[in-house]
Amino acid sequence: MAQSFYITTPIYYVNDVPHIGHAYTTIAADVLARYKRLKGYDVFFLTGLDEHGQKVQQAAAKGGIPPQAHCDKLAPQFQELWKRLNISNDDFVRTTEPRHKTVVQRTLQALYDKKEIYQASYTGWYCTFDERFWTEKDAVGGLCPDCKRPLDQLSETNYFFKMSKYQHWLVTYINEHPDFIRPRARRNEVLGFLQKPLEDLSISRPKSRLSWGIELPFDANYVTYVWFDALVNYISIPGYLTDEPRFHTWWPADFHLIGKDILTTHTVYWSTMLKALGLEPPKAVFAHGWWTVSGEKMSKSRGNVVDPNAMVAEFGIDAFRYFLLREVPFGQDGDFSREAFIGRINSELANDLGNLLSRTLTMIERYGDGKVPEPGEPSAMDNLLQQTAVKLLGTELDVHLNNLEFNRALEVILGLVQLANQYIDRSAPWNLAKKAEDRGRLNTVLYNVTETLRFLCLALAPFMPHAAEEMKRQLGLMLNFSKPLLSAEITWGGVLPGTEIAKGTALFPRIDTTKSQGESRVDQQQPGTPTPPMSSAGGEGQISIDDFRKVALKVGLVAAAERVPKSTKLLKLQVDIGTEKRQIVAGLGAKYSPEEMVGKRVVIVANLKPAKLMGVESQGMVLAAGDLEVSALLTTLEDVPPGSTIK
Ligand code: MSP
Repeated sequence: MAQSFYITTPIYYVNDVPHIGHAYTTIAADVLARYKRLKGYDVFFLTGLDEHGQKVQQAAAKGGIPPQAHCDKLAPQFQELWKRLNISNDDFVRTTEPRHKTVVQRTLQALYDKKEIYQASYTGWYCTFDERFWTEKDAVGGLCPDCKRPLDQLSETNYFFKMSKYQHWLVTYINEHPDFIRPRARRNEVLGFLQKPLEDLSISRPKSRLSWGIELPFDANYVTYVWFDALVNYISIPGYLTDEPRFHTWWPADFHLIGKDILTTHTVYWSTMLKALGLEPPKAVFAHGWWTVSGEKMSKSRGNVVDPNAMVAEFGIDAFRYFLLREVPFGQDGDFSREAFIGRINSELANDLGNLLSRTLTMIERYGDGKVPEPGEPSAMDNLLQQTAVKLLGTELDVHLNNLEFNRALEVILGLVQLANQYIDRSAPWNLAKKAEDRGRLNTVLYNVTETLRFLCLALAPFMPHAAEEMKRQLGLMLNFSKPLLSAEITWGGVLPGTEIAKGTALFPRIDTTKSQGESRVDQQQPGTPTPPMSSAGGEGQISIDDFRKVALKVGLVAAAERVPKSTKLLKLQVDIGTEKRQIVAGLGAKYSPEEMVGKRVVIVANLKPAKLMGVESQGMVLAAGDLEVSALLTTLEDVPPGSTIK
């Protein structure tokens, strides 16, 4: 029987649409899953959605619909994106499904019966606005560290999991299993955290405070704490308590891929929960870094959230998959920028890889009548190409992918692409074609590059499944990327002489940087006054859709307004944009009084750099019609919620 490989991603909160962070982990897991299938493993790749808890309840309330309806509305956005990105997950869990909920309840009951869960009353600092407790240490000055509102001392009775009793066991386990928490720095971080006494974990929320969750099987006044529910997905879906033989083929999981922010929950909470259940911890938890966007933290309020759908629509699925794993070592933080993305596409995918394929096919058409020729005796240069290709598929890819060094794996693949291009340049087939006596050599060269491309197809298939299929089709190869690789397939000489090629369109067309560079900056000027036409590379004052997309327009609700002292025109507004309040100074004062402005819906530019106007900070701009003087404020026809996107 084939060896099993079980890999998971975090299950994503359905409080909003998917972004680049979600796509990142899911693509990484997909590459590993595809690679392991190629290597003959039985793979179970699980992803899904975390649908309970406060975040989701709040998001649903904001949209004015019941939580389940909210989840049902958002879930397809994730499922469709994964389909679009060619994610090959074997299952998709939604924590509101009965198959998951029953296991959570049975797990809780089992722990309760084993006296691993007890009831106790807890007194702590509670933030009513954020609906959460803070520890004494966090509650500096009696204020909420998040929203800065005053905290209340509150007593609440809850159920607690006896996590503290597993502290010693966990420290020993981590020390004895160096590959359990990766990369190494994250392991040290967890060990550091475990130097302080570990407290018991509150695993319930009174329904009076939070109703959207799985009811505790032993007390109907409570729902389960969202993490105690969510983590269980990793065992509920493969069959824990419902299909034990199946469960044991998959558990312990080989990899939980996660972001660095959810390290403690996955290593401390999860391992101790499993220990209490008498189950083994996962073999490895790998925490990747976070993406910033053009040097800034990605956030809704900054309006710089990278939408994978938009990236794919513009640059293609495979380019997106490639960039995310190529740009940054998995485990480290990285920066996403269009410039870096376009740079990679143009230099590595269009120039190096795309060009290698297209020039090879052109030469086979021209010098081989559209058929791969029969090779002759190899030279030293041929041997180097052959050895490099064989080493890539035979060992290098395996070492790097088992260490989750996606960028190193792509680096060696690209190394082979570049070597093959140099091989063509040095062999100069266009000169060989001139003399009849060089015909044999010409055939050998053409064969060797085609064979190298076959190796590249296989190596690239987990990363860029569509491009690999297209390369295969154009080269006329018989390869099946979803079946285990046969040893003959990773042996040099797999391409059959006489294979007919079918040159098609460019694999990765070059991105025209003059068009996408349109770096037109929205001029920082007095809010509330019209913006002059943006300068752009498009000519005649035109901008591209990309330029326009850079401006984050949102609906804001004016919560308060006052005049800026000593100014006739400027009003200082407090504008609610859903996720936060912004202070915006707008030149509306000659036309509108502060009283008239309160309660108005306005259109604001949410990603403008803050500026000071008459010494008052303005964090955005309110749009209004008018030339030199404001003649009318822009608003919306319907009462949409503050924070709604305008596009
Ligand atoms: N629901 C929990 C996970 C439960 S798993 C049992 C959760 N969901 S989340 O939707 O908020 O986040 C999911 C993942 O997205 C996390 O791994 C997080 O690290 C990742 N990212 C969120 N923003 C990110 C970036 N800017 N960059 C990279 N990944 C980021 O947490």
